[in-house]
Amino acid sequence: MPTHQQRIRTLVQTLNRYAHEYYTLDAPSVPDAEYDRLYRELEALEAEYPQFRLPESPTQRVGGAVLDGFETVVHAVPMLSLNNAFSPRDDEMGAFDHAEFLAFDERVRKELGVSQVEYAAEPKFDGLAVSLLYQNGILAQAATRGDGTTGENVTENIKTVRNIPLKLHGEKQPALLEVRGEVLMLKADFAALNQRQLEAGQKPFANPRNAAAGSLRQLDSKITAQRKLHFFAYSIAQLSGAERLPESHIEELALLHELGFSLPEGYFGAYTGAAAVLREYERLAEHRPRLPYEIDGMVVKVNSLAEQQQLGFVSRAPRWAIAHKFPAEEALTTVEAIDVQVGRTGAITPVARLAPVFVGGVTVTNATLHNQDEVARKDVRVGDTVVVRRAGDVIPEVVRVLLERRPMQPVDLLGEQMEAKYEPFRLPETCPVCSSVVEREAGEAVARCTGGMLCQAQRAQGLIHFASRKAMDIAGLGDKQIEALVAADVLHSFADIYQLDIAKLQTIKDSKSAATKWAQNILDSIAQSRTPPLARFLFALGIRHVGESTAKQLAAAFGNLDTVRRAPEPILACLPDIGSVVAHAIAHYFRQPAQQKMLDDLLQHVAPQAAEPSPQTRAHAAPEQWLQRLPGIKLSEKRAAELWQLAGSLHALQTDQALPQEWQDWRKQPAHAALLQDIITFTEGLPESSADDVSGSLHPENHPIAGKTFVLTGTLPTLKRDQAAALIEAAGGKVSGSVSKKTDFVVAGEAAGSKLEKAQTLGVAVLSEEELLGMLGN
Ligand code: IVH
Repeated sequence: MPTHQQRIRTLVQTLNRYAHEYYTLDAPSVPDAEYDRLYRELEALEAEYPQFRLPESPTQRVGGAVLDGFETVVHAVPMLSLNNAFSPRDDEMGAFDHAEFLAFDERVRKELGVSQVEYAAEPKFDGLAVSLLYQNGILAQAATRGDGTTGENVTENIKTVRNIPLKLHGEKQPALLEVRGEVLMLKADFAALNQRQLEAGQKPFANPRNAAAGSLRQLDSKITAQRKLHFFAYSIAQLSGAERLPESHIEELALLHELGFSLPEGYFGAYTGAAAVLREYERLAEHRPRLPYEIDGMVVKVNSLAEQQQLGFVSRAPRWAIAHKFPAEEALTTVEAIDVQVGRTGAITPVARLAPVFVGGVTVTNATLHNQDEVARKDVRVGDTVVVRRAGDVIPEVVRVLLERRPMQPVDLLGEQMEAKYEPFRLPETCPVCSSVVEREAGEAVARCTGGMLCQAQRAQGLIHFASRKAMDIAGLGDKQIEALVAADVLHSFADIYQLDIAKLQTIKDSKSAATKWAQNILDSIAQSRTPPLARFLFALGIRHVGESTAKQLAAAFGNLDTVRRAPEPILACLPDIGSVVAHAIAHYFRQPAQQKMLDDLLQHVAPQAAEPSPQTRAHAAPEQWLQRLPGIKLSEKRAAELWQLAGSLHALQTDQALPQEWQDWRKQPAHAALLQDIITFTEGLPESSADDVSGSLHPENHPIAGKTFVLTGTLPTLKRDQAAALIEAAGGKVSGSVSKKTDFVVAGEAAGSKLEKAQTLGVAVLSEEELLGMLGN
């Protein structure tokens, strides 16, 4: 039986090893529960035998002591600063200008009298410098940098930083070691902390650096313990009683690693000559956005400690090192205007026009404000001073407003009451490009221009969709050709496609001779597209929410374009799988005069295939159905059925004075009366359904798949997804894009992802391709 003291020692050693594996090596060897179990055992033993408590016990990390203030610590070796080298980037080319670093390299070479220098390079961490003093291997004191000569004693707080060893690793420990390094907060821990701050109604921290500083300077170390700080070692300030002394910076780092400290894995090393250092700089700059911690440059140090000594110091900075900074990612500027941009899909994005500012290495004059909710949340207004951020290649964005700098105007004569000079920003109600209505659907962050092809901003996109394989299938007329033709002012509308000729097509090819055959092929496929199936034509129009499957529904239900165009919104909403949002989008599209004109122009050249409306449509569009879907009156299924029973005829619905008052009030309004008339005229024009197919699906044959809803996901072994979909639809089934409780089967292939998971959680039957083919009878 080990003694309690022995058991305590073993527990401390084991727990510290586990913690090192977890926090420093990022390679835990036991589950968290095992760690917790041993930890609780240690806690209990220490409570019973406090005389055996070890200074490096992990129980020392939870914090506890509350200080009145921090004691001052005089640094035995002053904590100096680094000279900076900046590398601005060419605005257009983006290339770095390394003149300042090259000048540093030249000075070093001259002083050492060599033609090439070996440097050590590592990240310049964006945190706080601290100094850690170990006596006989035990962490004895930790101090902040302060003014470089004296700092603050933050030992209690530093003990809570999990990847700082309380006791140095290894057998033989130096009598004295002073480690320098940076305390910081990982980006992920910062994001989580700010989330908690917001949830607790507290102010979020501006950046990880501020969060780390605020956490390290807590007088109550229990708070620091909850904050998840992280430490990277970057140098040794004092070392005595060691087995061997490092001779280079890289050897110093290796020793620190052996003693249990974290290093920036994959991002430190020795490089000979300036060119090799600069390649590493550019690699680090490129990786910067992906690193789990913030850095603001690369520190380059002469690797040999002997050469460092030879170079010495000037004022308060070493001549053997330089901070090669990255272009700052954040800067202050003012908002000169807020414009809106219309994207290729009609998305309306507010954009801040900024006083030019150099940030992230380039001059920025615009920053996205994303959407109306974001503008409101940040309350960005014209005249505001804002923080802009540009990290890596991401689009510059406005991070926040400095409210204290908002331009104000006095509202009373004494100027005591002030009011902001500019109003909060609001998105326009019409599109700045084409004046069509801007709509924002419930639950959507993005507002959109409803102009579609009428809007110049969306034209190329609309034409690309129109010509695409699943739409009009015009081979040879792809993204590139269409964009070039739109740019060359040759294409404006769908109809223009049918007025293309060889000469017009050749405007976008450099060599005319080679272009003739190419142009002729395109003209041939344009000619072939003149009599498309109605479903493809409807899909090609690019009506919002009308994907392939909705287009097929519309075509199957109404048979011909004219009927689709006339269909009133409440009737559209009665079709299976078409909800109110989709019905609104369709009806709205066909009601716009400019859209109608565009369509009529197109119909001069194209004749979609036409059939009679399906006999089922009249059943789907029965009065008790569309009554539930009228605007301005909310009738439940039951009330709609009652009303229809009371009325007994369409004519009575329009005229009967004995119907419920609510209904009479509704139909009194001229717009409602007109809609009612439209619906009646429309439904009466639909063919009568025959007695036996009233309640059937759109596909009367009694196939086991008829009426069933399928979702396809993953890669099937032999069928393409659209082939599988076509087979299902041919058998009377439906194919939907998302899994819900209404889904009957999910057909899953290889690499099926979230849809398969959802099917499993909802208990929806999952089929393989083989099983599907079996059901189809193949
Ligand atoms: S070495 C004598 N290495 O930069 C110079 N400093 O401007 C000793 N820093 O206060 C500093 N990363 O907080 C060194 N890899 C790194 C660093 C680094 C960040 C900070 C440190 C120091 C400041 C000097």
